[in-house]
This record gives sequence, C-alpha cells and structure tokens, in this order.
Amino acid sequence: MFLKGNLIAAPQLGVLDCLPGGCLHLAEDGTVLELLPRLPEDVGGEPVLDFGDCLVLQSFCDMHLHGPQYPMVGMGMDLPLLDWLQTYAFPVEARFADPTYARTVYRRLAGELVAGGTTRVVMFSSLHTDGTLVLMEELERAGVTGYVGKVSMDRNGAPELQETTDDACRELLRWLEACGEFRRIRPILTPRFTPSCTDALMTFLGKLAAERGLPVQSHLSENVAEMEWVRSLHPDCRQYWETYAKYGLWKPGTVMAHCVHSDGRERAAMAEHGVLAVHCADSNGNLCSGTAPVRAMLREGVSVALGSDIAGGALLYMPQVAAASIRASKVRAMADGSAFLTAAEAYYLATTAGQRYFGAGDGFAVGQKLHAVVLDDSRFSGDAGCSLPERLERALYRSAPADLRAVFSEGRRIR
Ligand code: GUN
Ligand code: FE
Repeated sequence: MFLKGNLIAAPQLGVLDCLPGGCLHLAEDGTVLELLPRLPEDVGGEPVLDFGDCLVLQSFCDMHLHGPQYPMVGMGMDLPLLDWLQTYAFPVEARFADPTYARTVYRRLAGELVAGGTTRVVMFSSLHTDGTLVLMEELERAGVTGYVGKVSMDRNGAPELQETTDDACRELLRWLEACGEFRRIRPILTPRFTPSCTDALMTFLGKLAAERGLPVQSHLSENVAEMEWVRSLHPDCRQYWETYAKYGLWKPGTVMAHCVHSDGRERAAMAEHGVLAVHCADSNGNLCSGTAPVRAMLREGVSVALGSDIAGGALLYMPQVAAASIRASKVRAMADGSAFLTAAEAYYLATTAGQRYFGAGDGFAVGQKLHAVVLDDSRFSGDAGCSLPERLERALYRSAPADLRAVFSEGRRIR
C-alpha cells in the first residue's frame, strides 16, 4: 500500500526530514518498507491512500500519565503536589476499586488518546489489580500500545487508597500472572514514588525487576517538599535517585517522571544508567513544581521524552503538550539563559524519543510497523506559502484532535 501526503519526520533531536508530496510504502501487515519522494508512476496494483495536502506526521508517545486521574483532568490544581495528592488525586483513584466504573472511564480515555494520535503510552493505573487489567484491555482494544503499571503503594496513602505490604506483593504477582494475555500493552513495575513504598515493598519490586527483567516507572525530584520528605525517609541516600538505585530499580529502561529539580549529579546518574526522564511541562506549571532543566539534560546525554501527566497536567493532546514544553523551556531560558526548545525539537521529544525507548527506531522507522497520524491543517493554514517546518510548528500550537484524518498504530489504521 502507498500512503501519500506531506511527510514530516524527526529522526534526531532538532532534525526534520520533510518530503512534500511524498509517500510511505507499506507492506500488507503495515510494516514501513520505504519512504519515497513521490508516488511511483506504476504502483503495481497496490492500493493508494492519497491524503492530498495533509501533513503525515509520526504519531505521539505519552510517556507519563495517570489513567485513574482522567475524571479530574482540568480541576483541582490549586495545591502543591503533596496536598494535591491527598486532597484530589487519592480520593479519585480510590473509585477505581469498582471495575465497572473503571471500564466506563478507561474506554473514554482510550478513545481520547486515539482521537489525539497518541499510539504509545507509559501509564500509571491505580493500585487496583482488576481495574488495571480493565485499563490494559481498553487500551489494547482501542489500538494503543506500550506499558501500564499497577501502582504499588503500601504507606502514606489514604484510608481508601493503600495496600498492606502483603496485599501489595500478592496482588502484584496476581496482576503479572494475568498480564500474559496482552500483546501490545505490557506490564511495568510502578512504585508510586519513594514515600509510597516501604523498604520491604521496594525490596520485593527490585527482586521482581531483576528476576523477570521488568521495566520500572516512578516519579523523581518533582517538588521541593517531596524531596525533603524523601531525604528524611532515606537519610543514608545522598539524593532521591539513590532511593530507587538502592533496591535495583535504577537501570536501563527505568522511566522517571518530572526530574524538575535534578541537579548535575542526579542527571549524570540518569545518563550513566540509561534512565529515561519524562518531562511534564504542563503538570509542573499547574502544581507549581518548577521548570525542568530539559536543555541541560539533553546536552548531558540524558534521554528525555514528554508526558501529559494528566491530571497534574490538563492537556492530553500531545501537540499541545509539545507546545507547553516549548513555553516552559522559554521560562527556564529567561531565568538561566539556556537555549529554549525549538518546534522541531519538541516534535522529536513527543515522537521519536518515546519510540526509541520502545526500541522502535527513528522517524518513520523503516522495517517497523507504521505509527503515524494524518493531520489536515487547512483550517488554520489559510495563507499559502508556508514551508513544511512552519506548518508543523503551527500544527503544534493550533491543531486539535478533530483535525486528524487518520491514525495508524502498529501498522493498522485505528481511526
Ligand atoms: N507523585 C506521586 N504520585 C503522583 C501523581 O499522581 N502525580 C504527580 N504529578 N506526582 C506524583
Ligand atoms: Fe505523575
């Protein structure tokens, strides 16, 4: 099959490969065979999907979000992190003890992700095993791929949202057992953050990570009060990241959300151990957490990707998340003179950076199943003569899910 349009890929940070009027040649199973500057004269009887003057972009990777916070997106952002968790997030997550409620909410969330062109995720569920399995089912059903984690939390939760250590370990095993049936959504170990997990639970998680080769996700250095709390809980650790390293949870493939206050030493530990930092600009602004040193991370060789972090973040559509990260980088630039993110860089961080984490190549990734969106920017690109990079920039700031004409995930059209 041939898919024709204006192709824009970001194979590397700051690099855009543009093929105006180009096309993607796909195998029957949706594998990308080659990128062509134009449709061949003879297509050998293969079908042609012609998207005219639309942009064909890589689909988006949301590398940090909380499924069970979807019902509270866009509200309750008047408190700093630790109070916000107790007052808003924990009571909302507690409702996911009910799998029927979970089904309704997660079906909507999966639908909104697909409608917005997000085809890869790294997501937190709640501590509930059955609700987590429902989330995985709904994502798979909708065509979203990636990792979902049943949250581990056996201390400092709320009466309605906390496990005993025994339950936490037993339910984790029951959950992993049940994950065998999923193909495109895989499990990731998910200690909520250091204050949520006893040493016994962290030890158990580290053992599982090593024995089963499972990836790990958590939160890191998001907020100053949180960091002080972590220091008091682990006085033997010099820095926050060492409270994960101590238990074998700091390793290649570990995903750490936020890293707002990660200094040079903590960033060096990320670069050295292959830990992915997920930048959640909208959330960090909403919860007054701070502005992450993204430019320093990139310069120092830390892998960085983007996350919506709903519901600390209120934006689920990744082009808006990318635009928010550009704005945040300018706030940082005004304070410390660092170079802000360009649109090309933000597009890379919202696409290829996540794709690489999953080992799925760069740009449109020849040899891999297609992940792409077709975006009709005619609604806001009225004045002619814009280059493709200009149209991409505009799409980040101006487009909406309704502008997407098609979404492809794992080689399949899912919208
Ligand atoms: N740290 C621990 N839990 C959370 C959460 O749900 N959201 C955010 N933003 N940070 C956290
Ligand atoms: Fe988060």
